[in-house]
Amino acid sequence: MTTTGLVVFGLVSLLALMSLLPPLAAKLRLPYSVLLAAIGFILGAVVSLRPDLAVPSPMLHDIIDALASVEISSEAFILIFLPTLLFEVALAIDVRRLLDDLAPVLTMAVVAVVICALAVGFALAAASPFGLITCLLLGSIVATTDPAAVVGIFREVGVPKRLTTLVEGESLFNDAAAIALFALLLEMLLSGGDGSIGDTVFRFLVSFIGGALAGFIMARAACALFPFLGGWPKAEITVTIALAYLSFVVPEHYFHVSGVVSCVVAGLVLGSTGKIRMLPHTFEQMEGVWGQLGFWANSLIFLLAAMFVPRIMEGTSLLEFGFILLVYLATLAARGVTVYLLLPLLTRAGLMQRINNRIKTVIVWGGLRGAVSLALALAVIENTAVPAPMRDFIATSVTGFVLLTLFINGITLRPLVGFFRLNRLNPVARGVRDRAKLMTLGDVATDLSEIARAEGIDREIADAALSSLEARLAVARARSHRGVELMADEMVKVGLTVAAAHEVERCFALLNGRIVDRRIAELLLREAQHVREAVRGSGRRGYVAAAERGLGFSQSFRFALWLQRTTRFERLLTDALADRFEFLMAQRQVLAGLVPFSRDRLQPLIGEEPSVEIIKLTSRRIEAVEESLLALKLQYPAYAAALQRQYLGRIARQRESAAYQSLAANLVVSGEVERELTAELERHWTGLDKRCKLDPELSAIDLVSRVPIFRDLDIKRQQSIAQLLAPQLVLPESKVVRRGDKGDAMYFVASGAVRVMVEPSVELGSGDFFGELAMLTGHPRNADVVALGFCKLLELKARDFHALLGQDAGLKARIEQVAKERLNHV
Ligand code: CMP
Repeated sequence: MTTTGLVVFGLVSLLALMSLLPPLAAKLRLPYSVLLAAIGFILGAVVSLRPDLAVPSPMLHDIIDALASVEISSEAFILIFLPTLLFEVALAIDVRRLLDDLAPVLTMAVVAVVICALAVGFALAAASPFGLITCLLLGSIVATTDPAAVVGIFREVGVPKRLTTLVEGESLFNDAAAIALFALLLEMLLSGGDGSIGDTVFRFLVSFIGGALAGFIMARAACALFPFLGGWPKAEITVTIALAYLSFVVPEHYFHVSGVVSCVVAGLVLGSTGKIRMLPHTFEQMEGVWGQLGFWANSLIFLLAAMFVPRIMEGTSLLEFGFILLVYLATLAARGVTVYLLLPLLTRAGLMQRINNRIKTVIVWGGLRGAVSLALALAVIENTAVPAPMRDFIATSVTGFVLLTLFINGITLRPLVGFFRLNRLNPVARGVRDRAKLMTLGDVATDLSEIARAEGIDREIADAALSSLEARLAVARARSHRGVELMADEMVKVGLTVAAAHEVERCFALLNGRIVDRRIAELLLREAQHVREAVRGSGRRGYVAAAERGLGFSQSFRFALWLQRTTRFERLLTDALADRFEFLMAQRQVLAGLVPFSRDRLQPLIGEEPSVEIIKLTSRRIEAVEESLLALKLQYPAYAAALQRQYLGRIARQRESAAYQSLAANLVVSGEVERELTAELERHWTGLDKRCKLDPELSAIDLVSRVPIFRDLDIKRQQSIAQLLAPQLVLPESKVVRRGDKGDAMYFVASGAVRVMVEPSVELGSGDFFGELAMLTGHPRNADVVALGFCKLLELKARDFHALLGQDAGLKARIEQVAKERLNHV
């Protein structure tokens, strides 16, 4: 066979082998990476014994030759496999959770890498003849952790998702941090160890932050392409693959910042933003493609790297075994320090939730090392600029250490989890499990007897099947009655968690049905995810608080208001108002669907009382949304009507399109007919996705003519008054005037109403004015004035106040008379 032929033969033989390993690992109850390493080790031994082996079959002989020819260089690893490995993990991470826990994740990643490199570096420097930089370099190589084993076990035993994200996020960033540190140290080693610590840290940070920025920008650019590639899923997926590699190569090569960090950040951004930018089935397809690529890359690299091990470990001396043990102990100690000392500090600082000691121990023990460490060691071995003894030292220590973590920690991790009883369901989860079983078995029993009757199956046979179901049902019924009532509060929490997840789903459904556009979907999703997180964190209390917070006015809305007030620039305010309007309408739809969901789906699972409580909480939320919506509708009825028309149009379009799709799916009409019908539908509804125009109606002259004391003036006079008055929109419940403040302006109410907080309080509506007393008397404001809904006010500044009153005796008299009455009243 030719060399290329051999390499291809070797690779496909490995693929064939790999396909058998996941089920085998499950059967042996071993972490997949441990099995891969073991098989790779054996293959490596066979390959290195090749000359002495008497292989009976020529094909087997060729396979062994082929395996020997697919040795991988560290450069190939870094350029071919690493981007895929990193991007795939980053893509699958829940970014919102990651951001919530960014402090602990970065601490675990960056600080832990440094602690580990220092611990290993100093321990080895003291015990071995090699210099500190060499030992630190070795420390940085062994600082990368491979989360697959721990995450796999965490998923199985159902620990909180937050912890899984913590471990995954940690390993992702610590790969990045360790590789960046490795590159710096290697450079220092080769350049003779010059360069101060400060300089190194600075360059490390520049490389890290610059990489993050580059990845962010490139991923956003890729996301901007998706709307143009909407109908071409294969092209969109290709963009993501190009992004993974380009975000790795371009920053590193052209801007000299970390390609690893850039690739990770690009994956994170794509995983979160792409979900909204891509069509849902394209996103799913992309996840599938990346899952497959990740599996190949991870398995291949593990096998190939492990095949090297026998050759490296050949003739290892006792002293070298001592070094390996030292590395093992030092990394364990370093990880212990990070997890037991650093994380509690973060908890105390309020940056993360408490983790119990059993889980901490599992995280420490689960710090397995994998492909990245082996590949970095490979990079040193291949680097002929590094002196040979140093290379051997690094190669044996790293390889031996990786094997120790895999075979000691990897194999004992699951028993440890069992020992700590982390794999037991908590009582609430058990309760839910029993109810789920009860519900399902009941349904199955009913279905079964109906099917048996309808299909004429013998009575006896049907009865036998039913009675075995009945027996299981009886057990489930007995179990589900035990203790569940005691945990009504917990059940409410479980129910709210499910309801919150369903809320997120409904947001996606609105986006997919094109009932809301991307921008609104993003707002809705952000909100729904906040609520979901709050429930996870603090249950019912969190739910109520998050829901309330969600209806508040955002900082950007307030900024838009401020900008309009100070510069009369309206555009931002118009957009913010339109967004809020649409957001509230859409949120109302999302929440409305939660009530039947809680009644029909949750109740059988969590029981009647908790589900009633959840319906109550949801209804309260709906009322609050409706109240906020009403405040806006009162101010902008025409816009509300336009939005409702648009909503109905979108529903009609969605229903019609879904109907055609289902006709085609059931083969009632052909794909061609469906396309024709859909095209016609789209033509009919063109313009439906355009934003309705909202007029904030803040033109001074229009508002002036609505205020009775100005209304009867001639138009010229109104115009000159309008120039002195600044129109502004104020939010419901905001304080326009604060008691005790100096008076610098008075206000005319053009629309809406305000409440003057005197005893008893007085409400002022359209045409009334307030804030005149402080300016006439020179005293501080004598009361708070609060807006009752959205109000449009006309502000008259102090300097214009006197000018205007000077010009218009009638106006002056009117204002002074009202002021006198008010003062008398006080
Ligand atoms: P000023 O004191 O500048 O700020 C608070 C404003 O509340 C005050 O001006 C009046 O415009 C208004 N105000 C105070 N008392 C009353 C009242 N009894 N009835 C109506 N408005 C009042």
